[in-house]
Order: sequence, then C-alpha cells, then structure tokens
Amino acid sequence: MNCLALLGSPRKDGNTASLLDAFIAGAESKGHSTRMVRLHEKRIEYCNGCGYCRQKGSGQCVHDDDMTGLYRDIVAADAVVQAFPVYWWTMPAQTKVFQDRLYALDYSLLSGKKFYLLSTYMDEDPNSGFALAESSFREICSYLRMDFAGSLGVCSGPRPVKENREALDRAFRMGAGI
Ligand SMILES: Cc1cc2nc3c(=O)[nH]c(=O)nc-3n(C[C@H](O)[C@H](O)[C@H](O)COP(=O)(O)O)c2cc1C
Repeated sequence: MNCLALLGSPRKDGNTASLLDAFIAGAESKGHSTRMVRLHEKRIEYCNGCGYCRQKGSGQCVHDDDMTGLYRDIVAADAVVQAFPVYWWTMPAQTKVFQDRLYALDYSLLSGKKFYLLSTYMDEDPNSGFALAESSFREICSYLRMDFAGSLGVCSGPRPVKENREALDRAFRMGAGI
C-alpha cells in the first residue's frame, strides 16, 4: 500500500510527530511505502470558495501553490493518515486549510481510500476536543466514501508522547495493520 501521512503540527519533533513516526515505522515494517508531509512547511493558501474548481475540473484551483503536488499525492495514495494536535477543541489551521482545499478534487478519486486519524492533546483524557475532531473526520469520510479505518488520541499532559511506550506501540500496530 501507498500511504500518505500528513502532519498538522508545527512542531517537527513534537508529540504528534512522535506518534506519526511510530505509525509510519509500523507501516514500513510491513513493506508499505509511506510519504510524510509536514503541512506547516507547505505553502497552502486558503480556499476562496470561488467555485473556479467546479467550472474547471478536478484539482484545478486559482491558487498556484503546494496543493498542486498534494492533490497528486492524495489521489495516488491507498491510505491517508491525518496527524494533528488538538487546538481549541478541534484540528489546527494547518490541517483545516489542507482539508478545505480538497474541495477542488473530484471526490470519487478519494472514495475507497483508508483513513486514519492520530492526535495528541494536553488537557483532560478522554478529551472532548479530540472527540469533536474525530467526529468531524468520521462525517467527512462518510461523505467522501473513504474508509475510516482507525483513530488514536493520546494525552501529552503526563509525559511527552516520545516517552509513552504504550501509545507508541499502539500507533506502530495501527500502522502495521493498514
Ligand atoms: C494553540 C493551541 C491550542 C491548544 N488547544 C488545546 C485544546 O483545546 N485541548 C487540549 O487538550 N490541548 C490543547 N493544546 C495542547 C496541545 O494539543 C498538546 O500540547 C499537543 O500534544 C501538542 O502537540 P505537538 O507537540 O505535536 O505540537 C493546545 C495547544 C496550542 C498551542
């Protein structure tokens, strides 16, 4: 399988990156190929909601930015993993802007792909922000006919995720199981 892993955290070596690294290690341990993209390092403009894509066709957008390559990457992927820290009870802007820009794609190109969600948060555990973000992605997957195949939310409050062996093992096993 070809797995596209999208990191929504601005912190390259942060909690969410640790969880995603473990997932990727699991996927690669089973011979899957992975591509990790740090959304924070990409130039992704806001969706204008202008409808240009609806007139011009799939992946056509008034913006000429890094989404051009990312449209190709997501269409080519068999599995997509969105990994992000909870910000204000939902996904961070980096993840949301990427998600908004998928509006330009022919949604049939996404149907049938497996979808995984990894997230970290600092406060209460279980975490209502994680539950809200997870619920959004379940609805999105249902609408896009993507297969919501798994999610993992981990609290970084007691200790950094890189020191949380149990969480890293769960992410590894999820990646191995794609
Ligand atoms: C702008 C901002 C908003 C946050 N909002 C929440 C929140 O609503 N709930 C929560 O539990 N943690 C919240 N946090 C804490 C992060 O989710 C948590 O520290 C996470 O593990 C950071 O992941 P990272 O190391 O990958 O950046 C917030 C952090 C920031 C910077």
